Amino acid sequence: MMSKNLRKKIIALREQLEYHNYRYYVLDDPEIPDSAYDRIIKTLTALEDKYPEWQSDDSPTQKVGGPKAGGPASKTFSEVVHSIPMRSLSNAFEEAEIINFDRRVRELVELNKGEVDYVAEPKLDGLAVSLIFENGWLVQAATRGDGRRGENITHNMRTVLRGKTQLKTSRLSVPIPEVLEVRGEVFMRRDDFAALNRSQKKAGLKTFVNPRNAAAGGLRQLDPAVTASRPLSIYCYALGEVVGAKPPNTHLKSLKWIKSLGLPVTDLMKPVKGIAGCLAYYQQLLNQRDTLPFDIDGVVYKVSRIDWQNSLGFTAKAPRWAMAHKFPAQEEMTRIDNIEIQVGRTGAITPVARLKPVFVGGVTVSNATLHNGEEIQRLDVRVGDSVIVRRAGDVIPEVVSVMLSKRPKNTKAFKFPKKCPVCKSPIVYEGEGVIARCSGGLFCDAQKKQSIKHFASRKAMDIEGLGDQRVDQLVNDKMIGDVADLYTLTVEQIASLERMAEKSAANLFEAIKKSKNTTLARFLYALGIPLVGETTAETLSDSLLTLDGVTNNSEQQLQNIPDIGPMVARSINTFFEQPHNREVIDKLLSAGVNLTKPEKAKTAMHSIFSGKTVVLTGTLGMSRSEAKNLLQSRGAKVTSSVSKNTDYVIVGQDAGSKADKAEQLGVEILDEKRFLAQVNNA
Ligand code: IVH
Repeated sequence: MMSKNLRKKIIALREQLEYHNYRYYVLDDPEIPDSAYDRIIKTLTALEDKYPEWQSDDSPTQKVGGPKAGGPASKTFSEVVHSIPMRSLSNAFEEAEIINFDRRVRELVELNKGEVDYVAEPKLDGLAVSLIFENGWLVQAATRGDGRRGENITHNMRTVLRGKTQLKTSRLSVPIPEVLEVRGEVFMRRDDFAALNRSQKKAGLKTFVNPRNAAAGGLRQLDPAVTASRPLSIYCYALGEVVGAKPPNTHLKSLKWIKSLGLPVTDLMKPVKGIAGCLAYYQQLLNQRDTLPFDIDGVVYKVSRIDWQNSLGFTAKAPRWAMAHKFPAQEEMTRIDNIEIQVGRTGAITPVARLKPVFVGGVTVSNATLHNGEEIQRLDVRVGDSVIVRRAGDVIPEVVSVMLSKRPKNTKAFKFPKKCPVCKSPIVYEGEGVIARCSGGLFCDAQKKQSIKHFASRKAMDIEGLGDQRVDQLVNDKMIGDVADLYTLTVEQIASLERMAEKSAANLFEAIKKSKNTTLARFLYALGIPLVGETTAETLSDSLLTLDGVTNNSEQQLQNIPDIGPMVARSINTFFEQPHNREVIDKLLSAGVNLTKPEKAKTAMHSIFSGKTVVLTGTLGMSRSEAKNLLQSRGAKVTSSVSKNTDYVIVGQDAGSKADKAEQLGVEILDEKRFLAQVNNA
């Protein structure tokens, strides 16, 4: 690159980082996801490494404490100088970087044999704080700031610590020191975050993009009463300055000491041995990530021996004795190509954003839900906007925020339609006006199609070959108007569909015929009664045994069945009261649909695995065939390869490509502990 251009590029990158640092630390309102920020840092660092003549102490890559780890102290709080700087951690994304880290540690401490004892911890996604206790009393709390100077947030921290501003006398022999500095992370639990956003919304106040921002905003309030109203938590993860007592000689003992003094330390921390222990821990937490009560963005490995920590020391920014191993990003930037309205089986209207495909949360995402009209208004999301999308676990990807500074000219606010885009019936509102529904019922082609697709689906009547496209054709060509019409179709009619080979027509005809013999549970599920999923359909079938048994029960009687609540009972009753639904059921029965009676005592125990396709991989504590038997006794089908039809993959130690594939396809992964918990739940 020409040196003039290069200089311009470096300056531009630095300016971008300054801007994003300001939004993140001072305004608590970041505009881009961490993943995008990390990429800018990476690009800039690479350029600065390659062209040392352009390096500068002013560069955001050089600031003590790391650019994204602290940020400048704001002017609204008094300043605190950290007696021991609060440093950042080096980040790694690849296994190879962790292997290098471990090798460097062993070289530097001259360990020729055996493994290093590490402590592995979750990398909490919150804000670093320092707490100073004098003779057991909290006297000062501070944010990390730029690593050297932070903000004095003592008053606010008292509300976070609630009853814990005085240390407990330790059960361990070490006395309470004159001065004890403990460092940790303030964060917000996911359920607290959701509740906070609900109440902010209700009060017409600004909602937060993610728990980290909500925590940052909550902690840096000038009025401690406001902080007190924000549900913040803390986990401590390190000692700072200690005066008047001999600190423990390992990190593991330090954590135990901190805990024994009454301060919160996460139970997820674990002593591990060597590189294998680190990587197994990483995998374990990655599997648990979505079910944890708080967000973590990776794990941290720390050399446990303090004498080794001391001899390893620090680089300008981070300790050589610790390393953060980051998880794949769950938030990414992309562009909105279009906003479309989807009409569901029961008429529910959902706006969906069509996205420029983006790799996030382990899969490529091209659609994200916009939930409802209110959400579109709140986000003010428009076609052409650059947005942040989030995909965490099995949750449907969603748009979390719009990057207003990147909005192109001439965009238009999205107008939520007043009429169903498919059948033009008026849209009506339910549930405090948030849930929009097409009032066209089964006259609406969209609802018709969705209900037929659901009827034919694998877990319902399981009609092979009747995919979405075929249903669309059949309804568009007016060959069928409801699910019962499927059974009046002739082979000739089916063969007359566009792009339908004769053989496929014959196969589909047979598949439809075959589906007539089914179980009561499948049939009930296939009808698409609102609130009746597979499990409820099975419960109804097991308890009432016949279709008449289900249709002839009062709401009250239905509620006597375990697991059937008043809402579900009402929904079932309302469904069977509709003359149209009764008509369709009569048509189905006279077309020859035959419901086999459920066995009273079920052979398979009910569990989350009932009717599911499961793949086993890696080494489990039990033999493969034992695991298979267990699963089969819980109603699962056990197969050997992972595909999009797989429901669960159970991973043991050293799981290889199958686990990777499951992740790519977004198939739910269970580790052995969760697998056993579910099996024992049956
Ligand atoms: S130790 C000298 N342990 O990550 C090392 N930090 O990227 C000090 N963090 O500023 C940090 N969980 O805010 C440590 N278990 C953990 C952590 C953790 C989250 C944060 C902390 C730190 C940042 C560095």
